Amino acid sequence: MNNIVKKEKYAEIVKTYASDILSSERFKIQKNFVQHGKFSVYEHEVLVALTCLSICDKFDIDVDRKSLVRGALLHDYFLYDWHDNDPSHRLHGFTHADTALRNACNDFELNDIEKDMIYCHMFPLNIFRVPKYNESLILCVADKISAFKETIINIFLKVSKYTI
Ligand SMILES: [Fe+2]
Ligand SMILES: [Fe+2]
Repeated sequence: MNNIVKKEKYAEIVKTYASDILSSERFKIQKNFVQHGKFSVYEHEVLVALTCLSICDKFDIDVDRKSLVRGALLHDYFLYDWHDNDPSHRLHGFTHADTALRNACNDFELNDIEKDMIYCHMFPLNIFRVPKYNESLILCVADKISAFKETIINIFLKVSKYTI
């Protein structure tokens, strides 16, 4: 299976498990917030969800795919532009997981795996938030890979955006 076919397969899985999230107006607001370089928070979360599925396939890891997709899509659901000079965003790296979790719980029904994924996704920066589940650990790795692609790799090679 080539990469494009794989991405399409993963995109279908994301749509199947998270159509309510993807169609939510609040979730779509994130298209207006920059995450890294030319990637919006929305595009970043989609890339992270696809990367999570790809990691599971590659290493044959047993996970709850629905929770994996939903937690990945909501992991940065903090709903503000962290590049603003607002003093409340100064500790963004340490605080946005809590904000994202609070917003996600307000807007969607979350299970324990999804909550842990969002809460722990900044590990090891947030050193005391050690992921409890496979899904949370995979998200930590996928988030870092995606951030690296969106920043460093994207300077030299154009990283394709996959908009769902
Ligand atoms: Fe984050
Ligand atoms: Fe992220």
